Amino acid sequence: MSKYTNVSIKHLQTVEERKDALKVRVAVFVDEQKYSLESELDSHDDVSQHWVAYCDKENQDGTVEKGVPVGTIRLIPKPDGLAKLGRFAVLSDARGLYIGQQLVKSFIQYCKENSFNTIVLHSQYPRRGFYAKMGFMIEENDDAIFDEDGTPHIRMWMRSL
Ligand SMILES: CC(C)(COP(=O)(O)OP(=O)(O)OC[C@H]1O[C@@H](n2cnc3c(N)ncnc32)[C@H](O)[C@@H]1OP(=O)(O)O)[C@@H](O)C(=O)NCCC(=O)NCCS
Repeated sequence: MSKYTNVSIKHLQTVEERKDALKVRVAVFVDEQKYSLESELDSHDDVSQHWVAYCDKENQDGTVEKGVPVGTIRLIPKPDGLAKLGRFAVLSDARGLYIGQQLVKSFIQYCKENSFNTIVLHSQYPRRGFYAKMGFMIEENDDAIFDEDGTPHIRMWMRSL
């Protein structure tokens, strides 16, 4: 088991940096969760904001790799101050270290500072507890479970940022 320390969250500024986000997304959504690469690499990346969590990784043999990408999140801007949260993932052996929580907090902070008033996301149904802990809500008139890329999802909202 690897040991991760020194977490830092970076708001990506270049297409080159986005390769780090894609590494995490492919490891989690394609290799682990078996979504197709085609569905993973959709058309929204160029108009989105991206963040990556980097860590120092201590391997079992004692060697340390600096600045390893371990998590990512994406914001798609929509009309009327709406931000769509998605492509949110942390590598399986780095989970439970509050890296996901830090990514979502950076995302919310950015929304507050950039005139977004509402965040919407499509939660994989078993992940809804995570988002609820972060303050997202399932709304009464919008509580249907729907299929997205072959798995059940539910819409969750954070309003009045
Ligand atoms: C969802 C995900 C990004 C969370 O990342 P993480 O870094 O492991 O989460 P954190 O360590 O920040 O968890 C923070 C809290 O949420 C809880 N939590 C994590 N996953 C949860 C879940 N599925 N249901 C309920 N609570 C959950 C943790 O136990 C922790 O709770 P605590 O504060 O009571 O200790 C990660 O599990 C992941 O990449 N999963 C696979 C990809 C995925 O499903 N992405 C989301 C698609 S909608």
